[in-house]
Amino acid sequence: MQVLANKDFNDWARQRQMHMETVLERVLPSADLAPQRLHQAMRYAALDGGKRVRPLLAFAAGELTSAPVDRVETVAAAVELIHVYSLVHDDLPCMDNDELRRGKPTCHVAFDEATALLVGDSLQSLAFQLIAERTVAHSPSIQLELIRLLALASGSRGMAGGQAIDLESVGKTLTQTELEFMHIHKTGALIRAAVLLGAHAGSGLDSSQLDAINHYATCVGLAFQVMDDILDVEASTATLGKTAGKDAEQNKPTYVSILGLEAARKLAEDLHHNALLALPEFGESARRLAQIADFIVQRQS
Ligand code: IPE
Ligand code: IPE
Ligand code: MG
Ligand code: MG
Ligand code: MG
Repeated sequence: MQVLANKDFNDWARQRQMHMETVLERVLPSADLAPQRLHQAMRYAALDGGKRVRPLLAFAAGELTSAPVDRVETVAAAVELIHVYSLVHDDLPCMDNDELRRGKPTCHVAFDEATALLVGDSLQSLAFQLIAERTVAHSPSIQLELIRLLALASGSRGMAGGQAIDLESVGKTLTQTELEFMHIHKTGALIRAAVLLGAHAGSGLDSSQLDAINHYATCVGLAFQVMDDILDVEASTATLGKTAGKDAEQNKPTYVSILGLEAARKLAEDLHHNALLALPEFGESARRLAQIADFIVQRQS
């Protein structure tokens, strides 16, 4: 896992990345349970890899509302499982046709396409099973709201919808507004859900606080994909653990192809600045959210 720049944040993040690994290890069906191949592939895709940015965001947002660890860890795991499912499907030949993910052969290469499809399906179901069967909020109505938020963020009005737009945009020149719409959905929606679910796992928020959290989450969600587009051009395959240069090769409209590298970087910085504007009202409890926003625009992979 990546070494982060700030030691205090690095230690905090590392502990939670390890914690998330333990939780995922526990909630994923054991590899010797039938059907073994599917369970092996689910574990292959989900364990031991990735930056775990969405779980970190959920833990950090939980600090705003003093969310108990057993609740935040469950919502963090659920969002990460949806994210891993989205990566497994994103890499399939019918989508981005990628062979490398998190420094290893992609799920369909290591196993096969049908298994990778089922891995995605099963990880998604497991995510909803977790947040339905465990207590993750102070009241049943808030818990239902959490489940609804994750469903919305994952489906055709969220990640899957953004992916559909991504695929139908190949070879097209999108306007900046259209590109923003695509990015807010394919990547922003799940990042926003991570923040909201983490916060909702704790005590209640008033509507102005919810607006502020929403603002932060929307800005970092978009900044995250702008940086992903930049890194696809600037970073190496070895650093990324996934094939660099894929967007240009596949003729995908990105912030870099539409605005150029310099303007894309400036946009990421503006979004970062804007995200931080939402945090002062939370005082010290928002320190980790601020550090994650910094990390998102400074990251090298
Ligand atoms: C990659 O996400 C796909 C996008 C949504 C941009 P991450 O960069 O968070 O991937 P991992 O989880 O660290 O592998
Ligand atoms: C993927 O965007 C977004 C989702 C997986 C939902 P990309 O296709 O740019 O992600 P990478 O670059 O393959 O990780
Ligand atoms: Mg893609
Ligand atoms: Mg891709
Ligand atoms: Mg990308």
